[in-house]
Amino acid sequence: FCSLFLLGSSQRLAAADSIPVTAAIAVIQHTAGNETAGIVTFTATEGGVKVVADITGLAPGKHGFHIHEFGDISDSVKAMSSGGHFDPASTHQHALIPANHNVAGHHAGDMGNLVADGAGKAHLEMMLDGVTLMGPVNSIVGRAVIVHAKPDDGGQPTGNAGDRVGEGVIGIAKAK
Ligand code: CU
Ligand code: ZN
Repeated sequence: FCSLFLLGSSQRLAAADSIPVTAAIAVIQHTAGNETAGIVTFTATEGGVKVVADITGLAPGKHGFHIHEFGDISDSVKAMSSGGHFDPASTHQHALIPANHNVAGHHAGDMGNLVADGAGKAHLEMMLDGVTLMGPVNSIVGRAVIVHAKPDDGGQPTGNAGDRVGEGVIGIAKAK
């Protein structure tokens, strides 16, 4: 009787472990003194994770755009609690995406630049490889999207992108 109970509970655990996560979302809010806002969605596809970003309240031009290690936005002033670029493979190497997309072994969280128009709006669609929405190592769920004040120029260690003007935690979304 006891072993049957244990079997039942382990089956429930296995079932819970296998619920697929195919969509995630980060709602971007501004840090102190900024007006950045918007939505970033992540969708699991056969070719990787598709990223679609719509951001407003930016200065016209390029803004570094990254996944950072921690989904901790308790520092609402400067967003430093989100840590550095998500780097599950411990490459310690930054790359400008997509120009250096084939640089071997860069931070998985490197997403290049948003490009804001004269009205301060940016739209970006890209495929992000090296990350997943599930699993213990490469999953970006629970981590943070950061929008920077300056362009990501590809320099080490983080692209010289300056202050963090927007931040959002990546959470599980309803599958589409
Ligand atoms: Cu960043
Ligand atoms: Zn990086």
